[in-house]
Parts: sequence; C-alpha cells; structure tokens
Amino acid sequence: MEEHTDEHAAEGDHGAGHIEDIAFSFEGPFGSFDQFQLQRGLQVYTEVCSACHGMKFVPIRTLADEGGPGLPEDQVRAYATDLLPVFDSEIGEERARLLTDNFPEVSGAGMGPDLSLMAKARAGFHGPYGTGISQLVNGMGGPEYIHAILAGYTGETQEQAGTLLYGNSAFPGGWISMPPPLSDDLVTYEDGTPATVDQMATDVAAFLMWTAEPKLMDRKSVGLVAVLFLLALTVLLYLTNKRLWAPHKTKRKH
Ligand code: HEC
Repeated sequence: MEEHTDEHAAEGDHGAGHIEDIAFSFEGPFGSFDQFQLQRGLQVYTEVCSACHGMKFVPIRTLADEGGPGLPEDQVRAYATDLLPVFDSEIGEERARLLTDNFPEVSGAGMGPDLSLMAKARAGFHGPYGTGISQLVNGMGGPEYIHAILAGYTGETQEQAGTLLYGNSAFPGGWISMPPPLSDDLVTYEDGTPATVDQMATDVAAFLMWTAEPKLMDRKSVGLVAVLFLLALTVLLYLTNKRLWAPHKTKRKH
C-alpha cells in the first residue's frame, strides 16, 4: 500500500509521522507471539476498538489456536455469541455468531477501516532496503505504526469541513479523524498488567500483527528446518564429492 521509496521517506512527502521501533516478541528469525500479550490485545480490541473497527477476515475459531491467543474452545464459543449477530443467508435471518463465523464487519459514519490486515497494510519503516537484514530483524513496522498512532495524540484538535480532527504525531499529515481511543486504565487486565496507554497500544498492535499474519511462527519454523536441511545436504554433498574424487587425486600425486 504505502510503497514509499527511500527518497520519499526522506522527503517526508506524506508528512510521514514519528514512529518508534518496539522490540516485539515475534520479531527476528526465532521470534514468537506472546500468548498473554495476544490475550490482552484481544481484550483491548473487544472493549475499545470493536466499537468502530471490524475484523471481517479473521475467523473467530482461530482465537483457540496454539501460537495465537490459545483460548479454551468453550470460552471462544461464548465470545462468539457476545459479538454482533450475523445475517445467515441460508435461514434468511440474523442469528448469533458461531465459532465458524468471522468477526463482524463494521461500517458507517464515524467508523474506521477494517483492522484484520492493518498491521501488514502499513509500514512504519521504509528501508534501508537492499540486504533485507533490517526487515528480518525489525519487521516492516506495521505494529509499530499502529502503536505510534494510538500513543501519538498531541492533544490538539481542529475542525475541517465540519469534521473534528485530532493532532497525531504518527498519522501522515498530522491530523486524524479517529478520536483518541485509549486513556490510562481504560481496561482492567486479568493478569494484573498495568493498563497504561503505552501498554494497551503495544498489546493491541501485537494482537493485530497476529490477525494479519497468524501463521508467522509456522512459517519461521518451516524456514529454519529448510535452512538446516540445506546445510546438512551441503555437508553430505561435500563429503561425497571428496570421496568420489579421492582415488584420482591420490593417483596424480604419486
Ligand atoms: C470512535 C470510533 C473509533 C474507535 C473507538 C477506534 N477507532 Fe481507529 N479509526 C477510527 C476512524 C474514524 C479512523 C479513520 C481515521 C482517518 O482516516 O482520519 C480510524 C483509523 C484507525 C487506524 C488507521 C490509520 C491509518 O493509517 O489509516 C488504525 C490503525 C486504528 N484506527 C486503530 C484503532 C485501534 C487499535 C483502536 C482501539 C484501541 C481504535 N482504532 C479505536 C475510529 C475509531
């Protein structure tokens, strides 16, 4: 989406805002999602963001996935029932959501964009490209961008064409129409983590990275196995090669 080149980023053509790196647990070649952080992020999404943002691409049942929030299935089933009902075209009427449904779609005046894939649709960092080492270690900054938006309100407001805009140091252009959604202690975490704005923003950003890329950990472990396999293969081929040529090499010497 935001396919900036280095040049553009340097010029700040979108007035691209200030985004800080966060050392998320899922970054780097061995990183993995922190289950408790995902659970806290789900709580923030549910209690705060879901009022204005849908997640229509996220299947509810994945909340029970290992490597995801890992909630017990009966808890996920109860969670589904508490969401907005869904229109079932087979029975021609609305019914309670089931495990097999997706999260609701939310639209209308004052509502925000769908958050299912937001962490991958935005990039907080733009380069340096080239080796890709920076991206491998730090990611593309999608979750950092989300955190920066949530924690970046300046407290200023202005009205533009009848819409109230809020000063935000991370949003391109510096003004966003989303009212500041977070304030300290807005939610109460079951695990006793203090619910500061920074903490809630980090947790929900991690959660949205999981919704956008639920198989991140699988992909990393497959990659690791592939690399180990190739290493073993290299060693074997090297030894075979040596063995095959050994008689000829000794002959030449004598
Ligand atoms: C009162 C409604 C409301 C609530 C609550 C709300 N948002 Fe938003 N959000 C919006 C609107 C409206 C926009 C569109 C802003 C714009 O484009 O100026 C938006 C935009 C966004 C964006 C996109 C910024 C971009 O780059 O386009 C993100 C990310 C976001 N919200 C995350 C969240 C998260 C996470 C929460 C919960 C902590 C949340 N929002 C709570 C209304 C809301």
